[in-house]
Amino acid sequence: MRLSAVILGAGKGSRMKSAQPKVLHEIGHLPMVFHVLNTARAFGASRIVAVIGHGRDQIEAALAQRAPEVQIAVQEAQLGTAHAVDQAHGALADRMAPEDDMLVLYGDTPFVTLETMRAMQAARQGGADLVVLGFEAADPTGYGRLICDESGAFLRIVEQKDATPEEAQTRLCNSGVIYAKSALLFDLIKEVGNENANGEYYLTDTIALARAKGFRAEVVLCAEAETLGVNSRADLARAEAIFQEKKRAEAMAAGVTLIDPKSVTFAYDTQIGADTIIEPHVVFGPNVRVGQGVRLRGFSHCEGCVIGDAARIGPYARLRPGADLADHTHIGNFVEIKAAQIATGAKVNHLSYIGDAEIGAAANIGAGTITCNYDGVFKHKTTIGARAFIGSNTALVAPVTIGEEAMTGSGAVITRDVPAGDLALARAKQENKPGLARKFMARLRALKAKASV
Ligand code: UD1
Ligand code: MG
Repeated sequence: MRLSAVILGAGKGSRMKSAQPKVLHEIGHLPMVFHVLNTARAFGASRIVAVIGHGRDQIEAALAQRAPEVQIAVQEAQLGTAHAVDQAHGALADRMAPEDDMLVLYGDTPFVTLETMRAMQAARQGGADLVVLGFEAADPTGYGRLICDESGAFLRIVEQKDATPEEAQTRLCNSGVIYAKSALLFDLIKEVGNENANGEYYLTDTIALARAKGFRAEVVLCAEAETLGVNSRADLARAEAIFQEKKRAEAMAAGVTLIDPKSVTFAYDTQIGADTIIEPHVVFGPNVRVGQGVRLRGFSHCEGCVIGDAARIGPYARLRPGADLADHTHIGNFVEIKAAQIATGAKVNHLSYIGDAEIGAAANIGAGTITCNYDGVFKHKTTIGARAFIGSNTALVAPVTIGEEAMTGSGAVITRDVPAGDLALARAKQENKPGLARKFMARLRALKAKASV
């Protein structure tokens, strides 16, 4: 038996009020549809078809980039969920075996878990031909209702608009997820009509059709939180909150201390080693790996970077893509690092910008040091050797190389390489004028006294 997944995402998502298709809105810095896709992959779906319509060019481009194995089926007009699934038939039909199963998922319902998918699979293997994922809704308004008889046998699904007042009473609702024998589901879809309140082809009608032919339909239940669908920006914020709660719990379970968990936000792929301490208000963008025993102080912002073991970062550090910090590095307050390798034990502790650079082991970068990496057109590299000492407020005009154990005097503007072990001074020589400060101030005060008479 092979398993295919069909992910529906052709709808307009008009309540998002967005130029971007709904399923590309991000949760934890990953477009929603990829949350669904990743679960389908982890579940073992050997073929995945995305049914798209509105905003198809944008969705196609995103899929081609991150999930090129996904097949695309286009639904030109959104005639209903049954019609949407039917669009995937062409992509699956050629190699479909009679024993194959399929899982229908929604691209805007990102939290259905692997465990739930496995429970549906188990029901199917236990003899059900179609398995519907249901939930007890706190407020069932808007959902299709699962109708069962007195013995609990699952009869059909009725949409809210088509439900009798009595049917509408039930809080047992349809999540939209269906696990079924592929060939059977496609056959049943052919018989679905559109005589209903919306004039749409409802996938939910396949249940009653299956029953009438003597097939078995069953319901598997999950928690309502898993079926949360995103239709509006408010839903998106709720989904983000659920996602963040999950990531925080995972991090803590893996041995990470979060001093104020609610104030830390993760990306879908954030990795953090054990015994790392994250202070309040730290933000992780995508693609961050943090080692063990790190102290990540408050209000630091990290994306696309690697932080080695026992590093000390922040408060208020900004680590941008390509920041690669080795073990025992110190990055202090108001320091920005971009596309730079900082070797073991090197320190950049205060008010610096280090971009397009390589900094050797145990080098010390003084307060206010700036790598002047950009000439308005090109980016240039700064190389600093091991144990070098860069004086405070040095401007390193790239391309430039500072040798091992070299020094720059503070306030230097360095435009030429500094050989290993040398000291570079590049500022005007200081001159002291005896008594001139007092004389100067006296003259200014006298001028002021005259003006105010
Ligand atoms: C659907 C179910 C309802 C269930 C609810 C759960 C049907 C008829 N109804 O209703 O029982 O309680 O989901 O949220 O299935 N889509 C397409 N093409 C279409 C229509 C829809 O791709 O022609 C996609 C949408 O983009 C969305 C999903 O299918 O991802 C569900 O569509 P939506 O219009 O939200 O269905 P509901 O009316 O909410
Ligand atoms: Mg919906």
